[in-house]
This record gives sequence, structure tokens and C-alpha cells, in this order.
Amino acid sequence: MRFIGCKTLLLDQIKGVIDEKAPDAKSLCDIFSGTATVARYFKQWYEVYSNDLLYFSYVLQKGTIENDRMPEFEGLKADLSIQDPVEYFNSMDISDMEALEQEKRFFQNTYAPTGGRMYVTDENALRIDFARNTVEDWYKSGLVSEDEYFYLVACIVEGVPFVSNTSGTYGAFHKEWERRSYKKYEVYRLSVTENGKNNRSYNCDGAELLKHIQGDILYIDPPYNERQYLPNYHVLETAAKYDFPEVRGVTGQRPYENQKSDFCLKTKAVSAFDELIKNARFQHIILSYSTDGLMSVSDIEEVMKKYGKESSFKIYEIPYRRYKSRNATLTDKLKELLVYIEK
Ligand SMILES: C[S@@+](CC[C@H](N)C(=O)[O-])C[C@H]1O[C@@H](n2cnc3c(N)ncnc32)[C@H](O)[C@@H]1O
Repeated sequence: MRFIGCKTLLLDQIKGVIDEKAPDAKSLCDIFSGTATVARYFKQWYEVYSNDLLYFSYVLQKGTIENDRMPEFEGLKADLSIQDPVEYFNSMDISDMEALEQEKRFFQNTYAPTGGRMYVTDENALRIDFARNTVEDWYKSGLVSEDEYFYLVACIVEGVPFVSNTSGTYGAFHKEWERRSYKKYEVYRLSVTENGKNNRSYNCDGAELLKHIQGDILYIDPPYNERQYLPNYHVLETAAKYDFPEVRGVTGQRPYENQKSDFCLKTKAVSAFDELIKNARFQHIILSYSTDGLMSVSDIEEVMKKYGKESSFKIYEIPYRRYKSRNATLTDKLKELLVYIEK
């Protein structure tokens, strides 16, 4: 999924640090999980705990981390003869979705031309509305289990960015339709790694959660600048919650008072990080950060050494790929960091 700070390209480096520092570890916590990419990757080796303030992230986690196998959908097979709900939605003709009552079409009435916005086309909005309403109905009537429900909502959310008329985030939509908007929306079949362990997913403040869990490796990937995540991904949040929020303004933002992160505030980032490391009951701590983040490298070092074993502190520098070809001077200065300490 397109997501600011997604660590798909850093997985090998994170694994390298873990292999060097924590070869005997059995569990890993991805406390700022975002797309759940890191948690999903490490699930093949570890019992995984994942967490994020964003509900749509939680849904992706619940569907693929806490849920430990591809759902069978026995209820749908028995009662509705639907063998494969992803295929059911994706092969359905749009004319069959027109039966959905107008007032149930939140995406079409809000994010599509019908609602005066251009995040998705009217047709794709109806596809999303149809799938989302149907899964909600199936869950309420007991046709799908909780695991199956979260898996299906995760697949619905994962499909949305592929047809979104944005440059990646949802702070604004383009005024003309981009090519990707004309593609047919499809529910995206997520894969599920089965590891047979007691994996857990959470949707709360990271520092608060760390008071209640413990394990071997804590991977911390906080926001590093002032851009709050929720306003940039509000459409995905609504796809996940489908709670008919009162949206505001040209961009149709949903309220997000309870989902602001202190890591995005210059005045609060260091104390938020301090709280996190203080609360951590994990032996190995690995932080992902950037040299142009709100916390300086010396802030980070001070906090980590305050609670960890000073001599184990180590910084791994990774050149910033995204600036590589464009600006050689920036490449030299900006670095992605992996920072390790043993607690
Ligand atoms: C850099 S992104 C993580 C990206 C993730 N590693 C990935 O690969 O997709 C930072 C994440 O931290 C979450 N976040 C920010 N503050 C948080 C907090 N106090 N507790 C939990 N999650 C938080 C944001 O919602 C966002 O998803």
C-alpha cells in the first residue's frame, strides 16, 4: 500500500540488525504498524504483536497478523453458496449493485462526483459501498466470524489506493481524473502467513500499550515530521470504520481529535519517545528514524541510553534512496537510521 514511511524497502536492513543483535528472539512487536508490512514480514519467524492509532491500520493487522490463517467462509458457503467472497465482489456486475439504497452509499455520496468530490469515480465508489455494506450485513447476521469480517474489511481497504485519484495521500484529490481512477475497483486478496503463534493486534497509543505487553524485540517506526497521519489517510479510515462520519470542507476530512500523535509535534516528540522507551519491557529495541526528523540524533541517543545499556547503543545509517538520483547533496546529508539498544 502507498503510505508515508512504509518500510517495504527497509525489511532486509531491519532483519540484518535483528540477526546480528537478537538471534535467539522469539517475539517481535511492531508498535507503529501502519500498513502492517513489517509485522507481516516478520510473522514468518516470530510471534508478532502489532499496533497503531489508525483504525484502518488495525483492520489490516487484525486481518493478517492476529488472524492466523486464510478464512474458510463456511457460513457463506452453507447459507449463500458463496465459495469465495473476494471473487464474488470482483466478478459482480455494477448493474447488480445499483439495488443498494442511496442513503447507504457513503463513498459515492461523499468522495465521488455525486458528493462533489473526486477521490474515486462514482462507479468505483458504488463498488466499495456495496462490498462494505454487504460485509457489515454478513457480520451482523452471523454469516461471517470476527476473523473473517476483519479479513474482508482489510481486503476492501487495501484495494482503495489502487483507484484513488490522489498523489498518494488523501489531503487532496486531483481536479482531473488520473489514469488509475479509471481502473475497476477490486477487493484485494491479502495473503495470510500462518505461524501457529499467539499473534496480537492493537489499536491504541503505543506508550500506553507498552505498559501491558512484553517480549523480545520492539521495532519502533514513529512519524518523524509534522504531518499527522489521519488527515492524510481519512478516506481509508472511513472505508475501515464505515461509520458515516460528519465530514468537513472541500477535502471531506473526518474529525480526528483523538488520533493526533505527539511524535508529529516538535515540542512533544522527545517526551513521547522518552515515555515509550521508559515503558518498554523488551530486551532489544530498534528505532527507525530519519536524520531530518523532529528529534535530533543526540535526543534519540540520550533517551535510549537513559533506559538502556549504554555500551550496546549502535546507529546503522542507510542512504536515503528517494533522494539518490535527484540531488547528490541531499543524498549525502539525509540518512535513514536504524538505532539499536539493549534494555
Ligand atoms: C512511519 S509510519 C509507520 C509505517 C510502517 N512501519 C509501515 O511500514 O507501513 C508511523 C505510524 O505511527 C502511527 N502512530 C503515530 N503515533 C502513534 C502513537 N502514539 N501510537 C500508535 N501509533 C502511532 C501512525 O498512525 C503511523 O501509522
